Amino acid sequence: MRRRNAVTVWAPSSSANLGPGFDVLSIALKEPSLRINLSTNGGDGIKLTLKGKYGEAIRANPEAHSGCKALRALMAKYGVDEGFEMVVHVDIPPRKGLGLSGAEAAGAVVAANELLTLALSKDELVHYASYGEPEGHLDNVSASVCGGFNIVVRDYVSGMPHVYSFKPPSDLGVVVIIPNVEKKSTEDARRAVPTLIYKSDMVGNVSRVAAVSAGFVTGDVESILKNIVWDTVVEKARADSQVYGNGIDWRFLEEEKLHLFKKYGIAETISGAGPSRILWYSISRHSQVVENALGYVVDRIKELGYDVEATFKTRPSEKGTYKLSE
Ligand code: HSE
Repeated sequence: MRRRNAVTVWAPSSSANLGPGFDVLSIALKEPSLRINLSTNGGDGIKLTLKGKYGEAIRANPEAHSGCKALRALMAKYGVDEGFEMVVHVDIPPRKGLGLSGAEAAGAVVAANELLTLALSKDELVHYASYGEPEGHLDNVSASVCGGFNIVVRDYVSGMPHVYSFKPPSDLGVVVIIPNVEKKSTEDARRAVPTLIYKSDMVGNVSRVAAVSAGFVTGDVESILKNIVWDTVVEKARADSQVYGNGIDWRFLEEEKLHLFKKYGIAETISGAGPSRILWYSISRHSQVVENALGYVVDRIKELGYDVEATFKTRPSEKGTYKLSE
């Protein structure tokens, strides 16, 4: 096996769930993003260094780090017993629902795949990356590995993930709004998800997941915008458990979503486990009003005593994690 000594990869952030598609639908975003450098160091174990915009605020703990967990799963499977040094440039904000841990896990396995010349398929990369995620959830890692819009399915027979990836419509614009709400953790946010749901909610959510997916596959932005907004199971339960901030309950969120859609035709979702919001819009039809929609959401966040830490006007990333250099 020919081995390189070091590799650097770029990994996109992601927005998971896309409204009703909890743990199934996801999209990669051009910004924010991160870089990981992985090298073999002749020792054993994984030495982890965090740099970048958010790197210094986080304690580097290789036991808990999603990239290290994913790399260890891959090393165990392939009997790799050498040591690695992992340097992560953390430029995706942590605990904001933008898939930082998924991007780190995707980056780690894609880098290891290059470094160890394993030639793993996308589905295998997603499988190992999911070891970095709470309950092995697959949506963020699918987007960060594959890029684009993704539907991930755990095969009923083999239990292995299979990802259906599609190029997002070029007319789809994205605004990410990051409030200064402190989410405890994704694990905590997952505890708020109900285990039993009503039949009407299941029918509603399944129908909208199908319509959002059809919209992405056929390039029908209208179908995406109309249907992505409404998740009456997970977003509703998390909102009512205050996961997205005090006061941001379902009544508040539903009112905001209805206003944005009725007044501007713009769709709003919570990104992943929150608390960030995403505005989805048609670049050809809504570019004139997107600033007004953004202003409306920012004002509402401020009315509750919170602030907005950052906004990103970005686009879906067609690219998933890729190698920058050796
Ligand atoms: N689908 C996951 C969740 C995404 O909502 O918990 C977490 O980023």
